[in-house]
Amino acid sequence: MKEAHGEADPLGDGRRRRRQPNRNIHRSAALRDRTFDLVAGAFDIDPDRGRAFGLELGVAEGRCYPDYRALFAGEAKRPDGIEAVSIATPNNTHYEIAKAALEHGLHVVSEKPFCFTVAEAEDLRRIAEARRKIVGVTYGYAGHQMIEQARAMVAKGDLGDIRLVNLQFAHGFHSAPVEERNPSTKWRVDPKFAGPSYVLGDLGTHPLYIAEVIAPQLKIKRLLCARQSFVRSRAPLEDNAVTLMEYDNGAFGTVWCSAVNAGSMHGQKVRIVGSKASVEWWDERPNQLSFEVQDEPARVFERGMGYLAAEATEDDRIGAGHPEGLFEAWANLYSGFAVAMEATDRGDAERLSKVRYPDIAAGVEGVRWVENCVRSAEAGGVWIDYR
Ligand SMILES: NC(=O)c1ccc[n+]([C@@H]2O[C@H](COP(=O)([O-])OP(=O)(O)OC[C@H]3O[C@@H](n4cnc5c(N)ncnc54)[C@H](O)[C@@H]3O)[C@@H](O)[C@H]2O)c1
Repeated sequence: MKEAHGEADPLGDGRRRRRQPNRNIHRSAALRDRTFDLVAGAFDIDPDRGRAFGLELGVAEGRCYPDYRALFAGEAKRPDGIEAVSIATPNNTHYEIAKAALEHGLHVVSEKPFCFTVAEAEDLRRIAEARRKIVGVTYGYAGHQMIEQARAMVAKGDLGDIRLVNLQFAHGFHSAPVEERNPSTKWRVDPKFAGPSYVLGDLGTHPLYIAEVIAPQLKIKRLLCARQSFVRSRAPLEDNAVTLMEYDNGAFGTVWCSAVNAGSMHGQKVRIVGSKASVEWWDERPNQLSFEVQDEPARVFERGMGYLAAEATEDDRIGAGHPEGLFEAWANLYSGFAVAMEATDRGDAERLSKVRYPDIAAGVEGVRWVENCVRSAEAGGVWIDYR
């Protein structure tokens, strides 16, 4: 699959690369299994910087475009033009770039939050379906194998009836107004670029999607959200939020997302509590899954081991014992995107139905959750019916 990046990776000098070491996660994931090649791109909002960066990556000069419109138009004229695009730009650009890409007949990988409104998300779903194109959304943590183990255990009934879903993504990196000197945080607290929320969309959608994977039977019926801007200048966008959720089977959920949880690293945890037992996964220890049966000693399941469900070992890259991490999780995601794209192009519905990846439905649901949370918070933090 020939892929382009609308990713603006602002690298180009070693200094910046050391300071922002996670800048190549899309490339690393897409190229890991040789399912994609990076052949073209619009690599920065600044065309000169983007061109320099593209050249540094080995992209041909004529395929380093000044912007995404030139990228899609230019590639459409080539017999060997791109087949997919990865969009890793600020939130306000996802909708317009994804729409243009789909209309040019390209498969899309988009960053989250997918777009600003459910109406936009549904519009993209309609276009993708009409064009028979895949949209993958990079909920990267979902590529960790122990998420599959938790899903298999819930499906098998190891937990009993699901009662509680306890989610959090609460780091402390923005406890102070770091946006004053960090452009990557500055746009995140500006509704024009970030959309209707900060931490709800930026952080909360990650564990929310993981919970959807682990316990797909749970559907939100009502929710209540309260959000705060502890760094006052961030208002109306929140740097902390708590959401309570009632599911239609009687289960209850909580989501705490925060960028002001001082002292915490990532703090992304997913705990699913059933009538017999619980599972808990923490993204800072992603190779382990805690399984706690009432009245028994807690057990820790380890990635790569033979006792795991088949789905949990399918993506194993280095065997048990060696720690895999976020780069491998993202590579698993991108490999799912590639299988889905190829199956779609071949019209292989059976193959497509067997590959699970964060798809456009996951993108739409993330936007829907944020929209409902904001609606509740704006009404004063009240219970609202989920729609
Ligand atoms: N999935 C995840 O785990 C994860 C992690 C971090 C960020 N993100 C998402 O990735 C996106 C980007 O976040 P970031 O932290 O990399 O932002 P950033 O500000 O660090 O980088 C954004 C880059 O996009 C470029 N850009 C802006 N508009 C552009 C355009 N029209 N065409 C080409 N380039 C353009 C800028 O030049 C800049 O270099 C956001 O949507 C964010 O939510 C997701």
